[in-house]
Amino acid sequence: MPKSKQTIKIGVFDSGLGGLTVLKHLLKELPAYDYLYLGDTARVPYGSRSADVIYRYTEEAVDFLFSKGCQLIILACNTSSSQALRRLQQEYLPKRYPDRRILGVIIPLAQAAAHNNNISVIGTKATISSGAYKEEILKINKKAAVHSNSAPLLVPLIEEGLAGKTATNMILKKYLQPLKLKRIKTLILGCTHYPFVINDVRRIMGKNCEVPDPGKIIATSLAEYLQRHPEFNTDNKSAGKREFYLTDEPKSFKVIAEKFLGSKIEHIDLIEL
Ligand code: DGL
Repeated sequence: MPKSKQTIKIGVFDSGLGGLTVLKHLLKELPAYDYLYLGDTARVPYGSRSADVIYRYTEEAVDFLFSKGCQLIILACNTSSSQALRRLQQEYLPKRYPDRRILGVIIPLAQAAAHNNNISVIGTKATISSGAYKEEILKINKKAAVHSNSAPLLVPLIEEGLAGKTATNMILKKYLQPLKLKRIKTLILGCTHYPFVINDVRRIMGKNCEVPDPGKIIATSLAEYLQRHPEFNTDNKSAGKREFYLTDEPKSFKVIAEKFLGSKIEHIDLIEL
């Protein structure tokens, strides 16, 4: 385990800019940690790729984050969490980095929804076809009806900076209307990109459907994890360092990220995985 007196760097991985919706809450909830954000913007979207390719890309990302000194990695990307996390935890970590940890997002989000009996999950094709959310919800609540739907057009629209625009709202309505008719009680946004349009989703779904903010849930769950694992306590007394790495730099990333995080990004490093 890492020594108790040291700064801890948390790696946050996403296939693109969606992980910012998680990073924002981590920075708020746990500001003393150092953070390194990696977005595989050259290869986004992951959600329409095969399980083998998603695993390979995610392992490359994790390799990079560990090489940069992250002791803990959050696979913010639901697609990576649902298709690659288990194998990384069971095979890769024990062999390569037995003292470090990789955490996913599916279990905390499933736990936050499982008190309801009529739940829907929207996500990428790969996340939905993995059945990961349904599996985790049913472990907690056997009576739950879990409706899973992919919403593949949302990621490219949001990566293009079109959140909130008419075209995106029309597509959102098309995806959400059938769920509204099923009188869903909780809608899980099972993709990091979707919280960029959470207000539109909430408006369309109406007040009888909860739409929790995934980033908030993940930040709370990480804070609880860190309390149970004092070996990852950081020595920083105030806000730690923030580093950003992308595999391609869409011009919009910096603009969207600064607006969304509400702070300046001094530098973005371009890398190849
Ligand atoms: N950010 C990914 C997720 O949370 C989806 C985007 C993609 O398809 O790469 O599932």
